Amino acid sequence: MVQPIKISKSNNFFQINNEYVTFWGNEIVAKRIKIISEIQALITKFNFDTDEVIEISDDDTFSFFDQVYLKLPHSKAERYESLIPQIKSLVSDEPDLIANLANICAVLKYTMDGFFWVGFYLKQENTLVLGPFQGPLACTRIQIPKGVCGKAVAEKRTIIVDDVNQFPGHIACSTDSKSEIVIPVIKDNDVIAVLDIDSDSYSNFDDTDKKYLEQVCDIVSELFN
Ligand code: SME
Repeated sequence: MVQPIKISKSNNFFQINNEYVTFWGNEIVAKRIKIISEIQALITKFNFDTDEVIEISDDDTFSFFDQVYLKLPHSKAERYESLIPQIKSLVSDEPDLIANLANICAVLKYTMDGFFWVGFYLKQENTLVLGPFQGPLACTRIQIPKGVCGKAVAEKRTIIVDDVNQFPGHIACSTDSKSEIVIPVIKDNDVIAVLDIDSDSYSNFDDTDKKYLEQVCDIVSELFN
């Protein structure tokens, strides 16, 4: 029995049954292009305007999905497990720090659920200065140990805040931010930057995020000279 499949396009990413189709890294980008071209062929066939949602349940769809088998990870851990090698691959051939940090923000924001703002702050003496990010406007400088970011640097540890309104000294860049995680990037035993992620849901971050985002920050640490 073939299940109906809904395909829609939103924010320049295709969604299949409400899941974003996002693939990254050299090998994966090729797959992504293949998938998108296949989807476009389907769209042409069904005369589908990409701003609408279509539902297809015939054998053509089945063979289409047989060919471009889409297995999107569902659990948070599964998503991270697939994301980490993709991030490694993404940065492996590119020497430019800013380019790599920018792309890491993009893959995190568009792969994980509820990542409303994702960005790096880079440490310059006693200040964190805004680096590459994805999301709305953010404050450009944070004095250490102010805010969640400053505290993560001062205490050299990942900080998870379930409700930013309950965190004394939280620096609010957007009223839409409800929970936050800040992970220090450590090199030679010093914090050199932080990865800051805000969610528009309360309690969006847990130990799974901590575990995998610390792995992401280990990769990031290697990017600094
Ligand atoms: N909330 C952070 C400030 C940075 S923004 O969230 C982008 C903090 O309290 O350090």
